[in-house]
Amino acid sequence: MSDVINDERIPNNVNLASDKKLQRALMQWQPKFLGWWREMGPQGFQEHDVFLRTAISVDHEGWAHFDYVKMPDYRWGIFLADPVAGRTIGFGDHLGQPVWTEVPGEHRNTLRRLIVTQGDTEPASVEQQRALGQSCPSLYDLRNLFQINVEEGRHLWAMAYLLHSHFGRDGREEADALLARRSGDADRPRILGAFNEPCTDWLSFFMFTFFTDRDGKFQLLALAESGFDPLSRTTRFMLTEEAHHMFVGETGITRIVRRTAELMKQNESEDVRPLGGIDLPTMQKYLNLWYSVSLDLFGGEVSSNAASFFADGLKGRAKEDTFSDHRALEGTYAIEMPEDGKFVRQDVALRNAMNEVLRDAYVQDCQRGVDKWNEVLRSAGIGYRLRLPSRRFHRRIGTYADIFTDPEGNLISREAFERQRDLWLPSADDQNYVKSLMAKPIFAPNEMANWISPPAHGIKGRPVDFEYVRRGEV
Ligand SMILES: [Fe+2]
Ligand SMILES: [Fe+2]
Repeated sequence: MSDVINDERIPNNVNLASDKKLQRALMQWQPKFLGWWREMGPQGFQEHDVFLRTAISVDHEGWAHFDYVKMPDYRWGIFLADPVAGRTIGFGDHLGQPVWTEVPGEHRNTLRRLIVTQGDTEPASVEQQRALGQSCPSLYDLRNLFQINVEEGRHLWAMAYLLHSHFGRDGREEADALLARRSGDADRPRILGAFNEPCTDWLSFFMFTFFTDRDGKFQLLALAESGFDPLSRTTRFMLTEEAHHMFVGETGITRIVRRTAELMKQNESEDVRPLGGIDLPTMQKYLNLWYSVSLDLFGGEVSSNAASFFADGLKGRAKEDTFSDHRALEGTYAIEMPEDGKFVRQDVALRNAMNEVLRDAYVQDCQRGVDKWNEVLRSAGIGYRLRLPSRRFHRRIGTYADIFTDPEGNLISREAFERQRDLWLPSADDQNYVKSLMAKPIFAPNEMANWISPPAHGIKGRPVDFEYVRRGEV
């Protein structure tokens, strides 16, 4: 039944027409959303025809439809994965009890906060990426950027729907506030740090979609376990869209690495800047930056909030059913705490380490991608390897926020860190160089910027040089 998307002004599979009050509230929010999109969405491309995927069903096969759409006409809608009959809470103190279809009063504030925090990241990333169209390496990449942008817009709809449908007036106010904050704004910034970082070049964009969207994947996996069933069903469907964002990041970096390897061979040198390529040490610095700010998104290593989210059945672990003990009342987790100039192992109660458990799964998933990039280097006969820095490096949240380490995670002084900062993180010079490569956008369908190799395949059976964005009459 819920496979069917009702083709109304707000496409949905939640039978919105049956709840007039909710429908009216969302119809009042819709023009505010569109106003935000026009003001803060992709700059300069609102009237172009873009070859986009639109969700038309939550069915596993064939949930998406591909066609040319002008972005402001994109059919943003509300889609929840089908309910699982007889679903019970899979972890914490309420283990085995039926899931909630309504918000339990005692968890109302916490759930609202979790939804707002997730929801805030969605428009934030659109804002961070809004100028990137003006420096795109190809039409293929331009289209992928816009696909991600419209889907982040849909994720915002997903969270705004939950706020409107389950949190009354507070929820409506929060949904409006999601449209009022601005990434990087001094007075009304987005909630989480990484979502206020500028993302104004395509190396940053690919690192962002690899590392920061992947945080999104793990947050969504944890929320998909929630005992609050509407949240679980919403996030389960969001995950199908999120997979494409990480694909863009992973293959984007792979293509840069491949091109750099080619140029290194041509130049018989590691320095590919004279040939207009992005050298591997510069890529490593961007990796260090986006990995470390994304690690912060998981929160503190030791967290009583995380413990109560878990105890109360609000937020689980990624793929909770792969764990054997769903109560996690026994057992400890070893964390290296900085103490008097060294690290001391401390065993903390497992529930208090839930952020760290989720971060572990994330780190493992990141490593899988880095291994793929290194495989490109290995098969090109190049000895350089990209690597994930220590998770203690360059942190602003949690146990390691007030210390300084090198990328290996060794404690160093603030002075030593500042002295070597430009070796480890993108320097002003690196940023200027990377931006200089992208000074002009590439809009010819058969062209690709010099610093990146073409993708292996086009989209939905179309060739790589397909006109994915039509600039036509514009
Ligand atoms: Fe998203
Ligand atoms: Fe995403």
